[in-house]
Amino acid sequence: MDRPELEDGARKILLTNLRRGTADWNGKEFSFVVPSLRGYPFQWFWDSCFHAIALTHLDLDQAKAELTTLMSSALPNGFIPHIIFWEMDKQPDFLARNIVGMTSPNYSATMQPPIIAYAVERVFQATGDEEFKQKALPVLTAYYRWLRLNRDPDDDGLIAVIQPEEAGTDCSPKYDEALGLEELSNQGFIAALRKVYAAYEPMRGDDRRILAADIFHFEDVLVNSIYCFGMRSLARLLGDSPEATEFNREADRTLNALLTKCWDEETGAFFDLSGVAETQVKVVTISSLMPLILDDLPRPIVERLVNRWVTSTKDFWLPYPLPSVPASDPKFMPGNPRGFIWRGPTWVNTNWFLSHALRRHGYAGLADTIVTKTMEAIEKSGYREYYEPYTGEGLGASNFGWSTLALDL
Ligand code: GLC
Repeated sequence: MDRPELEDGARKILLTNLRRGTADWNGKEFSFVVPSLRGYPFQWFWDSCFHAIALTHLDLDQAKAELTTLMSSALPNGFIPHIIFWEMDKQPDFLARNIVGMTSPNYSATMQPPIIAYAVERVFQATGDEEFKQKALPVLTAYYRWLRLNRDPDDDGLIAVIQPEEAGTDCSPKYDEALGLEELSNQGFIAALRKVYAAYEPMRGDDRRILAADIFHFEDVLVNSIYCFGMRSLARLLGDSPEATEFNREADRTLNALLTKCWDEETGAFFDLSGVAETQVKVVTISSLMPLILDDLPRPIVERLVNRWVTSTKDFWLPYPLPSVPASDPKFMPGNPRGFIWRGPTWVNTNWFLSHALRRHGYAGLADTIVTKTMEAIEKSGYREYYEPYTGEGLGASNFGWSTLALDL
């Protein structure tokens, strides 16, 4: 597919999925792209950040509007929700069909991987808009401080998620044990999640209390890699200032904790920590590779991850790399039956993260293959939510927003 074709396809999605208006519940103007008109008709946190990055290639004003809308939903304490229901009437039965942790009818009480500072940095680089940056900075500093104060109770530099959807990799097999999943299906996942939600009911909104209750407490490697990556962006945006020093210091602490607590020398992979007791969850998934996005990851670890996992044809190096779960895992499901997502297929957002990461670490050939194969899959089936890793067949939602990150590969 040539560049104009790729851009045309992306432009169509980003325009069709665009929502503009004024919210009846807070009187604020919104202008953002929904991940998919049918499945996800509201604003999602990390999707929005990806949309803004894709939009830097098509429409700079809309890229700014996407992030400005997201940041306008920040609460006074700094928290930014993972879903904002700008127009609930677009799908009034959404909450009857999905479960979302809430303390307000208009947004979720949960987070998503904190990529926002990087997205702001990219939009600032593309536009040079100083006013946009100056408005974003207090929102970003408050947000990353909120994460530190509310999600890192043991103060080790690793933040914890309280339910799998917060990590953006909803049904990943790495959560099965902590969730006590009884049936390997989306229904089984929802049933297990309902128990967690029921236990949270009296505490919803008080994250420190929820984490202390130790019901689902995951120091997730993907989330923390992105947290660290985001704080580096924030420090660069802050320039030469005490706040930049603060966020660089915190990013150093997060990297250090990933290395000392999550790296498993025997397996050659990073593992999440479950519970207050911080038990390593020895299930390799795409998130085990995510620290590669950090430029200062020690070289021997980079090489180990690449040689042992990324390029292994029994694991991640499939015809359409990189699958969300390695093929060697007994629970690997390349077809993702009925919405049981993040258990095998290849996603464009993780390919975007990891192809850039591999290139920065000197693996241009591997990065090129990931890019070519991603483009091939998009050419076959359009911008889909995820792809079958052996055939490249598109699966899940059609006209899916963040797959337009292909413009930025
Ligand atoms: C699914 C994904 C999540 C994404 C959301 C909207 O829940 O797992 O990462 O943000 O869909 O696209």
